[in-house]
Amino acid sequence: MSTFQAPKGTYDLTPPRSATFLAVREVISAPLRDSGYGYIETPGFENVELFARGVGESTDIVTKEMYTLTTKGGDQLALRPEGTASVLRAALEANLHKAGNLPVKLWYSGSYYRYERPQAGRYRHFSQVGAEAIGTEDPALDAELIILADQAYRSLGLRRFRILLNSLGDKECRPVYREALQTFLRDLDLDEETRRRIEINPLRVLDDKRADVQKQLTDAPKLRDYLCDACKAYHEEVRALLTAAGVAFEDDEKLVRGLDYYTRTTFEFVHDGLGSQSAVGGGGRYDGLSEMIGGPELPSVGWALGVDRTVLALEAESVELDLPATTSVYAVPLGEEARRVLFGVVTELRRAGIAADFAFGGRGLKGAMKSANRSGARYTLVAGERDLAEGVVQLKDMESGEQSAVPLAEAAAELAKRLG
Ligand code: HAM
Repeated sequence: MSTFQAPKGTYDLTPPRSATFLAVREVISAPLRDSGYGYIETPGFENVELFARGVGESTDIVTKEMYTLTTKGGDQLALRPEGTASVLRAALEANLHKAGNLPVKLWYSGSYYRYERPQAGRYRHFSQVGAEAIGTEDPALDAELIILADQAYRSLGLRRFRILLNSLGDKECRPVYREALQTFLRDLDLDEETRRRIEINPLRVLDDKRADVQKQLTDAPKLRDYLCDACKAYHEEVRALLTAAGVAFEDDEKLVRGLDYYTRTTFEFVHDGLGSQSAVGGGGRYDGLSEMIGGPELPSVGWALGVDRTVLALEAESVELDLPATTSVYAVPLGEEARRVLFGVVTELRRAGIAADFAFGGRGLKGAMKSANRSGARYTLVAGERDLAEGVVQLKDMESGEQSAVPLAEAAAELAKRLG
């Protein structure tokens, strides 16, 4: 029998690369944690209806990409394809919006699932770090989120990313635009599926990647010309706040995004080293989502950054994160008695908060020293029968190569001192 492999479109995170993923999640969430966002965790699956209503019946995500299942009890569930609908559902369920402290600011980190055609940067299981600010309409909140994502990418060391910005209008002006666009699109020479799309989700037609379609779209009505005064003023304020913060962005009136809940501000972070799957993150305002899933009116805004693509972007820019070695001390026993004694020292070090590891399996000195090297430990402790007879261990500084005998009883304290 052949061995099992990870399912198509998925991959495992194994050391040492997995450390980069952990660090990326940490760096992306740090600015959020410092800006009043509280951590939220929701289940990996939800009732399928939440996404159908929230993300939208006309989106690819809902119609083609959801992993749905019926439980033995007859519940219709879906693995979560995104986080926003779940987080809003959870906030409503916990009445966070009623605690009198709006906006409710939340951040999350986890796995998401979409049945997409796998390719470089596009997976069926991927991970996001996201942020949602629920219950407040304020251009400064939209700006805050974009600035924090920019800060996160910059502190990772990324440079070749760009911010695309657009406004999709609100429930007043977008329907007017939608109709004007539909009238224009219905006269074009398009295939059946695209014709259907005109009726369900005409803005998505603007997103069509095919050259012959794009050619026909040159004179399409522009959303910008249809924005109501309130939306225009709101968008101008977001732009002004970003500019004042020194965050560069590009206006992109074609930016539509693949989820139906967006209103007003939408944005995407794209990286130029990633080929076709260039969006490393995206988000926007979703003022109507709460009502769409049965809640009160709660204008909100958020984003999600893709961890997988952020790691690919780091690799594309050859950015090496400064990941300190996880082990500070590595113990190498020579013989049975030394094994017992050094295992005790390692336990003592760990209890004192010093990261320590041990050469398990009774290997010889050479093999064990190789492992010590690989661990990145600054110090090794070596002890054999003769050392024990003299009541000492050999303490080696792996950086300078210096080695000295230290009384066994003082080894832990000496290491604590040296490691500061
Ligand atoms: P999204 O644009 O669908 O937005 O996903 C955000 C990011 O997740 C993308 O920019 C990409 O980096 C990553 N991503 C999405 N699909 C895949 C995939 N198949 N493989 C690898 N990475 C992927 C949302 O999910 C919204 N919930 C964002 C949001 C939050 N809007 C408001 N609040």
